[in-house]
Amino acid sequence: MMIKGLYLHIPFCSRRCFYCDFNTYEGLESLIPSYVDALVADMQASRDLGFGLHSLYFGGGTPSLLEPSQVALLIQQARLLFKLPQDAEVTLEANPGTVSLAQFQALRAAGVNRLSFGFQAAQREHLQSLGRIHDVAQSAQAWTAARGAGFDNCSLDLMFGLPGQDEAQWLESLNWALGFQPEHISFYGLTIEKGTRFHQLHQSGQLPLPDDEVQARMYETGIRLMAEAGLAQYEISNFARPGRRSRHNQLYWKNEDTLGLGAGAWSYVGGRRYCRVKSPQTYIHSALAGKAAEEESEVLDPAQARSEAACLGLRQVDGIDLAEWQVRTGSDWYADFAEPTRKYAGLGLLETAQGRVKLTSKGLTLANEVFCALL
Ligand SMILES: C[S@@+](CC[C@H](N)C(=O)[O-])C[C@H]1O[C@@H](n2cnc3c(N)ncnc32)[C@H](O)[C@@H]1O
Ligand code: SF4
Repeated sequence: MMIKGLYLHIPFCSRRCFYCDFNTYEGLESLIPSYVDALVADMQASRDLGFGLHSLYFGGGTPSLLEPSQVALLIQQARLLFKLPQDAEVTLEANPGTVSLAQFQALRAAGVNRLSFGFQAAQREHLQSLGRIHDVAQSAQAWTAARGAGFDNCSLDLMFGLPGQDEAQWLESLNWALGFQPEHISFYGLTIEKGTRFHQLHQSGQLPLPDDEVQARMYETGIRLMAEAGLAQYEISNFARPGRRSRHNQLYWKNEDTLGLGAGAWSYVGGRRYCRVKSPQTYIHSALAGKAAEEESEVLDPAQARSEAACLGLRQVDGIDLAEWQVRTGSDWYADFAEPTRKYAGLGLLETAQGRVKLTSKGLTLANEVFCALL
C-alpha cells in the first residue's frame, strides 16, 4: 500500500476557542512529551503502510505548542520510516499566541517548510468573541517572525459570518490579510458545531449571526479580492499563488490514501476509513504498548466510495476529469450521477465541459446542496 500523505494530530490547545469542535484539549500540555513518544511508536508500528510520501502535516489542536526538538524528532522519523523526501511539503499549523522568531528558526532548521496560521479576523472584538488567545498585533508579529526565519510558503486562515460581523469588517480582515502578501489563504464561513459554547449561545438566541444573504455576499467578496490580489481559488475555501497550493490538502480532495496518526486522527487506506482513539491518554497508553487503539472503522462499499470521491473532487474548482474518474473508479460518472448532474446543471450549479464536471461559481456558494444529492 502506498500512502501519499502523513498527518500528525497534536490535540493540545492553551484554551479552547468557543466555536471549535476539533479533538483538542486544554490543560493537558504536561502530556506532550509522552504524546510525542507515542507518535513515534505509532509511526514505527505503521511503517509498512508505505514509502514515497508527498507531504507531512502537523495539525491540531496547536502543533506550535511542541518544542522544535520534538517536531525535529517526528520529521526525522518520517524520513527514516516512510522515506519522506527532502523536497516534500512539511506544514505546521501555528497559533499566533504561541510563537517566536527563535522557535520559527528552529522549526525551519528541523525541516518544516510551510506554516499555516490561524489569524481568523482583524478586529480585537471578534478575536475575543471567538475565544482566540491572541490579538491582532500578535498575528502580525507572528507573520514577521515567520518571514524573518526564512519561511517563504505561508498560509493564513480567516473566518467570516462571525457574530456581529458586518461586511465592512470582513472587507477589512481580507485587506489586512492580503497586506501580508501570503502565498496562500483559506477562509471559512463560521459553522455552529454541537457541543461548543457557540452552539449553546445560538440555541438560546444569543448569537447575532449575519443572515444567509450577507454571508453569501461575504464569500463572494472574498473570492473577488483574492482574484484581484493574484491568489487563484482552487478549492471552495482555498486560494493560492501559482505553485503554492497545499499539496497535502489536495491529497484529501483527490481521495488519495493518507495516514493520520495521533489522538482522533483519521486515515483512509485501501478503501478503509478509520480513526485513532480520541482520548490523548488512551492513545498514549495504547501506542506505547505497541498498537494505537482505533475508535471507528468503516470499509466503504464501492458505490459509497464513489459518492464520497465525487463530493471531495467537486470541492476543487477544476472539478473532476471524467476520463481519469473512469480509470480510477472503473465506473462511468454518468452511471452513478446522471440524474443529479442533469438537475444541477439545469439549476446552474454544475457544468460539464472539456471532459470535466465542476461546480459553477454559483455552485461553489451552494456546494452543500449538490453534495447532498450525490451522497
Ligand atoms: C484545522 S483548523 C486548526 C487551526 C488552528 N488550530 C488554529 O485555530 O489556529 C483550521 C481552520 O479551520 C477554521 N475553523 C475551525 N473551526 C471552525 C468552525 N466551527 N467554523 C468555521 N471555520 C472553522 C479556522 O479558520 C481554523 O483556522
Ligand atoms: S486553537 Fe484551533 S484547534 Fe485549538 S481550540 Fe482554537 S480553533 Fe480549536
